[in-house]
Amino acid sequence: MTKNQNFIETKEYKRFAEFCDACIKYQYIGICYGQPGVGKTLSSRYYTNWNTIEKQVNHRGWEDLASKTTDDILSVNKIFYTAPAEKQTRLSNDLYSISASIDLGQKLHIVNKYGHDHSKHYSDMFKYIDLIIVDEIDRLKVQHLEQLRAIYDEHNLAMIFIGMPGIEKKLSRYPQLYSRIGFAHEFDNLSKDETHHILEYKWQDLGFDLKLEDFTDYEAITTIIKITKGNFRLIHRLFAQIDRIMDINGLDKISTEVVETARDSLVIGIR
Ligand SMILES: Nc1ncnc2c1ncn2[C@@H]1O[C@H](COP(=O)(O)OP(=O)(O)OP(=O)(O)O)[C@@H](O)[C@H]1O
Ligand SMILES: [Mg+2]
Repeated sequence: MTKNQNFIETKEYKRFAEFCDACIKYQYIGICYGQPGVGKTLSSRYYTNWNTIEKQVNHRGWEDLASKTTDDILSVNKIFYTAPAEKQTRLSNDLYSISASIDLGQKLHIVNKYGHDHSKHYSDMFKYIDLIIVDEIDRLKVQHLEQLRAIYDEHNLAMIFIGMPGIEKKLSRYPQLYSRIGFAHEFDNLSKDETHHILEYKWQDLGFDLKLEDFTDYEAITTIIKITKGNFRLIHRLFAQIDRIMDINGLDKISTEVVETARDSLVIGIR
């Protein structure tokens, strides 16, 4: 997300948040799958407040950690983790170290800010963690899924695995893990109506400097909806091309023709 983009709480996001809440409530493992670019990663980061927490968790020693904690660290109860493309052996170590950083960050923050540590915090791993979301689950091999299962079995928490459509089938090959999965959730594209609403009223949140009047007609908007089929990433890529084409040709209005030319210059993804 660029600086000017804001997260939009779409209907799909709300469905996703309900799914996460349910996994926490029942302490289940849940799987969430969806097409590339629909917003799975961004929604997970938003739900876990990870943009804020990650900065504090990634530290260079305790002094660095102590200098950047905010009150947000005190209420952390969720972890967002991206399965690494390489060196997957460190998976459970990574998760333990995130948990330890949160724990230490909480203690340091209380001592720094309130002068004493009267906290309820113990050093038990994942003591206050209710949910671990693991993104890019498709990358993991059976031994790493086993590590996740061990963490799940040992600590009272929920887990959500995020991946591409088809992961539910892939995971069904590991019966022990599969039998622990309580819910599956499909993260869908934006509906036509919602894309329409976003294109009409939420330009600024998308980070585009545009107004409704910049379109020559309604057809240009409906063409965008048709091309992108409610996929957030495609909307962004299409608009980057629209911007470029308008610049090159010195245009100040978006017509259907501009939209179609933009589509033709996108390499992949839409036909
Ligand atoms: N709720 C949202 N509000 C604003 N922009 C969004 C939102 N969701 C997604 N986007 C935009 O769409 C892009 C793709 O989203 P994201 O990376 O979360 O997709 P994904 O489903 O994780 O894709 P992949 O399967 O390829 O990992 C983001 O970089 C962002 O620009
Ligand atoms: Mg993703």
